[in-house]
Amino acid sequence: MKRIGILTAGGDTPALNAAIHGAVVRANQLRIEIYGLIKGFNCLFNPRVPHVHLNPLFQEIPELDPTKGGTLIGSSRDYIDPDQKAELDLITSRLTKLGIEGLIAIGGDGTLNALQPLAERLPTVLAPKTIDNDLGLNYPSEPDEWVRVKDPSGSPSYHYSRTASSAVFDLNQIVNYATPGYATAVLVSAQGVERIRTTAESHRRIAIIEVMGRHSGYIALGTAYGQPDIILIPEHPLDIQALVERVKHLYDLQKNVVIVCGEGIVDEQGSELGAESTSTDPGGNVALTGAAEALRGKMIQLLGDRYFQLYRRGSSAREAIFTRKVGHTQRGGRPILFDRFYAALLGSKAVDLLVEGRNNAVSVLQYHSQKGFHVEGYDANRFRDRWGLIHARQMHPALYHPSLMKPSKIGIDYLMPIFTDAIGNDDAEHMRQTLFDPGNLAQPYHSINTDVHKRIRYLEPNGA
Ligand code: F6P
Repeated sequence: MKRIGILTAGGDTPALNAAIHGAVVRANQLRIEIYGLIKGFNCLFNPRVPHVHLNPLFQEIPELDPTKGGTLIGSSRDYIDPDQKAELDLITSRLTKLGIEGLIAIGGDGTLNALQPLAERLPTVLAPKTIDNDLGLNYPSEPDEWVRVKDPSGSPSYHYSRTASSAVFDLNQIVNYATPGYATAVLVSAQGVERIRTTAESHRRIAIIEVMGRHSGYIALGTAYGQPDIILIPEHPLDIQALVERVKHLYDLQKNVVIVCGEGIVDEQGSELGAESTSTDPGGNVALTGAAEALRGKMIQLLGDRYFQLYRRGSSAREAIFTRKVGHTQRGGRPILFDRFYAALLGSKAVDLLVEGRNNAVSVLQYHSQKGFHVEGYDANRFRDRWGLIHARQMHPALYHPSLMKPSKIGIDYLMPIFTDAIGNDDAEHMRQTLFDPGNLAQPYHSINTDVHKRIRYLEPNGA
């Protein structure tokens, strides 16, 4: 293999550049050229196929900094429709003209879905990333548990649901234990919890903090490091009465309560508390928003103003209960050591898989309680259900203690290998050295896009 293409797809995460860096370092060792395709799958629809040579003379370009968040080659939520055969043929011919013999996509479950039709035309490998930590399997047989039923409204679409599991849950059996980006997102969310706590404590308030993760509660679970009182995850339907009882007990005891909720939490009927809107994500993923506000509404109603007045802690429930979203700060900025290190290994492994002749494979991060972490190649087909669909992983129920509303013992065992040494000395030092640099006050922000733009080349003369 002489030339590989690489792209980043879906929402950005802090470890994308680190994954690209890992791939480029390995490609340099193997004397393979590596072209960065601009703006994810979007690049492939453009007849001019904008791209950047990431390792001219087998040297990494200086703009590629693995400690920087985001992606120097840009990302998008564009989708490759498997039914558009003519378009797929065009894409393949463009890549062939560019001399690309294999493609690495850095992305999540949506990206892996989008790669399936391309994998029938050229060798493709996925290097995982997602702050949601939802690319993977709780155990290898998990895809076989999906069933699908036709939409009762008569529309041609299907609903997918899970049958009961027949596997024993074991941390050593998880496929892709953690995805790059997750650790940094948890760092930011847990810090957010710590910072909100002091306001809740000082002003005798109840805080509801919403974190990302779509229908998976991994980020919410990880915020346990910031010691919220209650964690609500999408995998466990909300028991509002139990929640209110717990809140009352804690509020009586400590005069403040901090609740974390995943953005995808559902009520007893399984309906999302927040609003769901469709996105153009390759996997048809939805965007969720407003769960914390909806929960606040319910709590205002159930606790009532009188409850706070009796305590002399405010004149109304509306005043005492507030919400905050950690939002996109979870997805941005400098990746911490765990994310950088393993993203680079997964990127490097993706190159090896292509060189070994693997197609439609995924480089995965495996964990073993005695041996620690290592990377492996995994067949993408093994992520697919009987109908060919790849589902986002939900957190296994064993990781959560529903009555404590906190991580269970296994949940704690799950988190520790990821986080105990996740922060490097340089991560702390970097903040000390750069945040209050007086130069920041005087100089305008210098965007990586300005530099990379100068390196963009096109498939000439007119593409197509
Ligand atoms: O999948 C990553 C993620 O950050 C989710 O946690 C969140 O729901 C979604 O993307 C937000 O998407 P957008 O950046 O398009 O608003």
